[in-house]
Amino acid sequence: MKRFLAVLGRQPKISLAELESLYCNVRQVGPNLAEFEIDKKSSLTKSEKYPAIQRLGGTIKIAESIDEPLADFWKKLPETGKIVLGVSDYSRRTNPYLAQKEALRWKRAIVKTGRNVRVIPNKTSALSSATSLHNRLYTDTHIELIKNGNNYYRVTGVQDIDAYTERDRARPARDAKVGMLPPKLAQILINLCGDKPEASTLLDPFCGTGVVLQEAALMRYNVIGSDLSERMVEYTKRNLRWASEKYNIPKLEEAYVVQGDATSFKWPEKVDLVACETYLGQPMSQPPAEIKLKQEKQECRGIILGFLKNLADQIETETPVVIAVPAWLRPDGYYSRLNLLDEIKNLRYNVVSFKNLEQKDLLYHREGQVVAREIIVLRKK
Ligand SMILES: C[S@@+](CC[C@H](N)C(=O)[O-])C[C@H]1O[C@@H](n2cnc3c(N)ncnc32)[C@H](O)[C@@H]1O
Repeated sequence: MKRFLAVLGRQPKISLAELESLYCNVRQVGPNLAEFEIDKKSSLTKSEKYPAIQRLGGTIKIAESIDEPLADFWKKLPETGKIVLGVSDYSRRTNPYLAQKEALRWKRAIVKTGRNVRVIPNKTSALSSATSLHNRLYTDTHIELIKNGNNYYRVTGVQDIDAYTERDRARPARDAKVGMLPPKLAQILINLCGDKPEASTLLDPFCGTGVVLQEAALMRYNVIGSDLSERMVEYTKRNLRWASEKYNIPKLEEAYVVQGDATSFKWPEKVDLVACETYLGQPMSQPPAEIKLKQEKQECRGIILGFLKNLADQIETETPVVIAVPAWLRPDGYYSRLNLLDEIKNLRYNVVSFKNLEQKDLLYHREGQVVAREIIVLRKK
């Protein structure tokens, strides 16, 4: 099996959970680095040579391990065309100077094989993903070499920051109150469902403005959605029409999206995976007072457990259900959680555990954000 390296995003533990859900033998090899392997049977590699970075919300770069001496590796580079070389050094004790020195050392080695080489300057010991992306350092002639201790890897894909910004900002229907889910987090929620075949049906019963449905459609899933609010249903439909045209997914325009209360609705189709951000309570800009927090928790708890109970009768054993639920910042800086796991287990779900992280690590938030999202990964019993 081929070994790969992932450079993890801002919340490395959540990124690790995403990788564990899709690949084999995932292990953390640095604060923001993980190695993993790909099962030959994986549907993710059938049409692509390398893991598809554009569907991973939590990984910034992917690289394949170089298992031969570098001197031999350089000999295999294309003989025509200028070589562009960047070095990212993720080793424990390093600095931009050492990274640049390493790059110049390898430049000399490549020049010896008769090629022209340009080196990307290291302002930092690891090149930013923007630098990697804009210099296209993942092609046959444009190479980013990653060093981690004595191990070397060659970058095969870089997260496309511009594409995310466009998907996030250019959508026609937006709502500040509902607070839109970042597309990267939507991808993570979907991927936590595991490696499902194309055209599996994904349900988002709290679809809001439709970010999960859009990202799932881009991964070639069929999507269905519902939401309590008529207005949100209209927003989702508008956004999906836009995405259908923009990304050329004709079927998306006709996706089934209707008004429905997730605690009682009967979805009309067989559902293969469920990914959603549930109701998160009211938007807040300051940590809530004790009494307000209690009310919010009670309301969210009722909706989330009511939804899971209703859903359990409508899906088959082993169906993945991934939900993001709220947690609130307290004045002391900790987050207050709903602590739903025991009740959820009684509703005929197993809680999925991970090798590289614990449930407490699955909290997604920006610095100081009042309402965080706790991710819970379930399989129907
Ligand atoms: C946090 S938002 C989801 C945002 C969404 N992920 C997006 O991309 O915009 C939660 C949604 O749950 C909906 N909602 C609240 N209670 C509900 C219920 N009982 N059943 C279904 N939807 C509900 C709200 O209308 C809101 O759109």
